[in-house]
Amino acid sequence: MKFFLDTANIGQIKEINDLGLLDGVTTNPTLIAREKKKFRETVEEICSVVKGPVSAEVIALDTDGMLKEARFVASWAKNIAVKIPMTPAGAKATKILSSEGIKVNMTLIFSLPQALIAAKAGAKFISPFIGRLDDTGQDGMELVADCVEMIHEFGFDSEIIAASIRGPLHVVQSIQAGAHIATVPYSTIMGLFKHPLTDRGIESFMKDWNNAGLGSIL
Ligand code: E4P
Repeated sequence: MKFFLDTANIGQIKEINDLGLLDGVTTNPTLIAREKKKFRETVEEICSVVKGPVSAEVIALDTDGMLKEARFVASWAKNIAVKIPMTPAGAKATKILSSEGIKVNMTLIFSLPQALIAAKAGAKFISPFIGRLDDTGQDGMELVADCVEMIHEFGFDSEIIAASIRGPLHVVQSIQAGAHIATVPYSTIMGLFKHPLTDRGIESFMKDWNNAGLGSIL
């Protein structure tokens, strides 16, 4: 499973990239707004660091507007995937953009039929939002598993991004569900390193080494 970082913060992106964990980045209008910089400036800065796909979302709600914005945004860097919301206008735009070779990440997916529409429209990435579904009392991870099964069953080329991840358990469940990608907030990625037994193990190894007076390895 690939890791995308769900942020527009360049500091976080550089840190995770330096750890060798970064396969791509997803942003959305909220995450872009949080950085208090121009959209293009933020996206180009991210693309200068990240080799993998960087998702940048359109704000137009009609097909023509989406097409204009998507083609413009896609021209900023060759690894941009344009994020398009799951609406009839979005599906139409996705079909056209995909036929032009522009990668589309269809976003705000909350049901299996929506995921099927996205796949049929040629979306390279399909983003079911786990956390937001969980918030409504539905099992978000079940949708991810169903989407993955559908992609395999019908031989679509799309990749499922488990999105709206709220913690390490969602990452575990994304792996188990066979998600191609999980897009994860910075704090959750850093949390994945942590285990109390790891900390305790390091502590006891150091103590034993030092008590034996073994000194430096070098
Ligand atoms: C995905 O691409 C979205 O940016 C993101 O995962 C939304 O997550 P949220 O529900 O935590 O805002």
